[in-house]
Amino acid sequence: MANGNNQKRDGLRILFPTLIYEGWYPNFSSIQQQLVAFNRKLREDDLAGRKESSREYSTGFTSYFSRQDLYKLPELQPLSQFLQQSANNYAQQHHWDTQNFTPTINSLWGNINSQYSFHPEHLHPYSHISGVFYVDTPAGSPPITFKDPRVGRWMMPPTADGARPENTFNAAVAPESGKLLMFPSWLEHGVGQNMDDIERISMSFNFEMRQKQTS
Ligand SMILES: [Fe+2]
Repeated sequence: MANGNNQKRDGLRILFPTLIYEGWYPNFSSIQQQLVAFNRKLREDDLAGRKESSREYSTGFTSYFSRQDLYKLPELQPLSQFLQQSANNYAQQHHWDTQNFTPTINSLWGNINSQYSFHPEHLHPYSHISGVFYVDTPAGSPPITFKDPRVGRWMMPPTADGARPENTFNAAVAPESGKLLMFPSWLEHGVGQNMDDIERISMSFNFEMRQKQTS
């Protein structure tokens, strides 16, 4: 309600938000098939990754344990550049110190969610920005889910209708081919079980805010 001439109004002040960045690869169809083929070949060639995945990732494949350096490959430079530009935007949106620090990618790996595979909740240590880029996500692919990090809220939560996505306990974001999500590395997230027999392909990564070199 307006209060006299001071234009003071009742309202909500939002504190401690978690900023999730959403971006879209421009003209994604031009590189989608190349990225699909890249990830399938990666699984074929990466024996160590397949072995470790069978222990840690049920029926799925990830090169997380074996090949995290994919951002160095020449054939992935267009994707790496897109991730870099997006990380720059994300850091600026946070008002982090981009004068003295640069978002620097330190890992990029591939994931293939086959039928019945899932990814339990986890976070990404030793980084500031984490994220996922969706390469091929058939209709009905399971979403990524984020868990409210404010543990104190679990003490005595009142019943709510869930209509404010920024203030729920668990938020789901649907995957879509060509979509990028970036989130703080400390934010717990997971992926539900893929019940479809069509594989869901994504690439995950981490950035850290690295101090710029002074000459
Ligand atoms: Fe993750």
